[in-house]
Amino acid sequence: MDKEILERFKALGPFKDNIVKTPWDSGVIDAEEVHRESFDRVIRALDFVKSNRSSLIFVLQGEPGSGKSHLLWRIARNAEKKRFLFVNIVPFISVKKFAFSSILESTIESLENKHPDLRSKPIDHIVGWIIKKGIEYRLWDPFRSKLAASIMNGLENFPFKNNTKVLYLGASTGTTVSHISDIVGPSGLVFAVEHASRVARDFLDRVATHRSNIMPILQDARKPKEYFSVFGKVDVVYVDIAQPDQTKIAIENCDIFLKKEGLFLINTYIS
Ligand SMILES: C[S@@+](CC[C@H](N)C(=O)[O-])C[C@H]1O[C@@H](n2cnc3c(N)ncnc32)[C@H](O)[C@@H]1O
Repeated sequence: MDKEILERFKALGPFKDNIVKTPWDSGVIDAEEVHRESFDRVIRALDFVKSNRSSLIFVLQGEPGSGKSHLLWRIARNAEKKRFLFVNIVPFISVKKFAFSSILESTIESLENKHPDLRSKPIDHIVGWIIKKGIEYRLWDPFRSKLAASIMNGLENFPFKNNTKVLYLGASTGTTVSHISDIVGPSGLVFAVEHASRVARDFLDRVATHRSNIMPILQDARKPKEYFSVFGKVDVVYVDIAQPDQTKIAIENCDIFLKKEGLFLINTYIS
């Protein structure tokens, strides 16, 4: 076709300024017939995920400018109607160590965006759901808890789950112990050892007395034979006592209290 005629056609085209950059752009003209088949397939997949409670991965492939972002925009617009939450996770530098925190950060940022055609942000739905269910969520600060920091940094074998029995050495005022107590739940148990009476008092007042699955032990971790309240074997020994001989202390405690297939976690300090 003649170049000049082509340019004139382009100038008349209703979609000429309709470049979608993000799934939350406003003023987008949506011609629903374009990529309808792909859109319908995504919606069918979402219905499948909802009814089967399983997950699916879809790969959206196409040349630059072929309308992939536009399709994401349309999927985001249909989120509320289909009762799902749309999240756009932007590409991150693929250093495994930071993958989890990058995904989390990107997810939260994305949930804060509102599609121009919808009434609310996805995060509002989550907050509403939490309020309705009466669930309490606690902040687990990775700058105050080494266990939280290790999760943020991609800890692969997280050993705590509902029902786990734990021996925790170095409870301090109970920050990390309280989170483990939440995770192991009422049928789990945390034997928490602390030898400094000043911090132990805080631990008792703020944490241990309010939680029935924590057994406080005011003892020296170097003398495991003197913990009279630990009964049976534990699934996990968690060591955070910041002592030069903590590896020896950990091994002695594991020898006495750790199950055969149990796990132990030790916090090492680099100076
Ligand atoms: C780094 S702090 C623990 C922080 C805590 N794990 C947390 O994440 O909240 C180390 C604790 O180990 C305690 N500790 C040090 N040596 C100990 C020992 N021999 N027996 C019991 N506790 C000890 C200290 O008193 C201190 O409270």
